[in-house]
Amino acid sequence: ETKPRIPVIWMHGLECTCCSESFIRSAHPLAKDVVLSMISLDYDDTIMAAAGHQAEAILEETKEKYKGKYILAVEGNPPLNEGGMFCIDGGKPFVEKLKWMAEDAMAIIAWGACASWGCVQAAKPNPTQATPIDKVIKDKPIIKVPGCPPIAEVMTGVVTFVTTFGRLPELDRQGRPKMFYSQRIHDKCYRRPHFDAGQFVEEWDDEAARKGHCLYKMGCKGPTTYNACSTVRWNGGVSFPIQSGHGCIGCSEEDFWDKGSFYDRL
Ligand code: SF4
Ligand code: SF4
Ligand code: F3S
Repeated sequence: ETKPRIPVIWMHGLECTCCSESFIRSAHPLAKDVVLSMISLDYDDTIMAAAGHQAEAILEETKEKYKGKYILAVEGNPPLNEGGMFCIDGGKPFVEKLKWMAEDAMAIIAWGACASWGCVQAAKPNPTQATPIDKVIKDKPIIKVPGCPPIAEVMTGVVTFVTTFGRLPELDRQGRPKMFYSQRIHDKCYRRPHFDAGQFVEEWDDEAARKGHCLYKMGCKGPTTYNACSTVRWNGGVSFPIQSGHGCIGCSEEDFWDKGSFYDRL
């Protein structure tokens, strides 16, 4: 309780802001406890009161005062085409602002599929050259927290780990925290007994769908998707896509947007 709170700078590139929407719905811990008691959220384009020069001044001040001690949380990614002009932030291309703030950061959190992999704005032919954070920043530790968006409690869980232990969680070889991304949706899916028994939904709203059988033949990507949806679930542990009757589209996997239809079988 007496430890100074870690400063966090939360920047937004090309994205839809639903990673923030997810974060503010965290139930364990509550997002308000993270923001008010665990970290010092000194800058966040979407929820801070400051604007314009006042907001930009916070970035300068953080770089000077907390050199090597702040976390840079990034939602979205920088488009590199035409000098980065497809995302201008504070009068500059976002990519410049990102590199500038990354220079003195302790570590970077890449929120969601946008920052981790590129997401839909990087879909072929990717006219803006939307580029994941780790392709632009090479000299800082990066924690990827993929998902579109990531689960709220996974986001706050990562922040809680870093603030409690003062170090990064153990990451897998793709840069994701092992504690949340080491199992496939399929490994813990409650419909798995139906998969094992060969009981599959063959058409939306058929008898098997009504009985809650496996969605594999409807294109469920659970067998190849690493995420915590079937254990942590969403909305404070209430449900997740498969529980609402739709297969997993693999939203935490690289290139999920370009891998063919969400309804194609694997
Ligand atoms: Fe939105 Fe998905 Fe990007 Fe998050 S990862 S900002 S939810 S498009
Ligand atoms: Fe696996 Fe999807 Fe079937 Fe669940 S619904 S058992 S994740 S294929
Ligand atoms: Fe995304 Fe699949 Fe979870 S679509 S939300 S990873 S069940």
